[in-house]
Amino acid sequence: MSRIPLIAGNWKMYKTGPEAVKTAIDLANLCSKVQGIEVMIAPTFLSVQHVAESVKGTNVKIGAQNLYFEKQGAFTGEISGDMLKAADVEYVIIGHSERRQFFGETDESVCKKIKAATQIGLKPILCIGESETQREEEKTFEILDKQVSDGLKGLGSDELKNLVLAYEPVWAIGTGKTASIDQVDDVHQYLRSLLEKLFSKDLASQTRILYGGSVKPENVKDLMGIKDVDGALVGGASLDANKFINIITYNT
Ligand code: PGA
Repeated sequence: MSRIPLIAGNWKMYKTGPEAVKTAIDLANLCSKVQGIEVMIAPTFLSVQHVAESVKGTNVKIGAQNLYFEKQGAFTGEISGDMLKAADVEYVIIGHSERRQFFGETDESVCKKIKAATQIGLKPILCIGESETQREEEKTFEILDKQVSDGLKGLGSDELKNLVLAYEPVWAIGTGKTASIDQVDDVHQYLRSLLEKLFSKDLASQTRILYGGSVKPENVKDLMGIKDVDGALVGGASLDANKFINIITYNT
């Protein structure tokens, strides 16, 4: 089963609407000849619709950074899957470690969000990863097992056919520290076998597993060379189109 690599930019709480549109158009121009690789950017909720309109028909796909699991209602400050879908959003990042750390996201809420995303036809990018202490205490696999099992509880292979997993060790996000090739290799192999154990061989072989955490032009090639790495979730280095394109074109 061939998995088309996905290089995704998470723009977090950066860029005003006009700044986001400008960077997205610059990126779309730089990407016009890119083939065999999917490119996605996830701007803020506020600019996602404008960004989607401005890159329509280009190689750049659109993601959101979160969603709420209810369809609509009295949920002040939240955004539903239908609203994202209507804004031409294709992917949605769920359970990013910053949401777990600062906004009370749990494996249970993550699971509800994954369900809501799959029901509406958004492709979920489930983020998982251990903290520095958990790694030092050798709990990495236990933590990842729980995040995947509980985050996907009650879902079947059919519903998860568009699932993307993103392994992002918390200690590597925005710190400039990248996990070593061996660490990434071990975790990604583990995650693929976990998907096989929990779901099926087919789901395990078709699911893209991204690495995230201080990915930059200097280290992307080595990371993408790892057998079970099918792409990258990039924060800081995705904010500048000229820098991000050097990550996207790592192979040229
Ligand atoms: P970083 O962020 O590339 O800035 O480390 C990655 C992420 O949070 O997805």
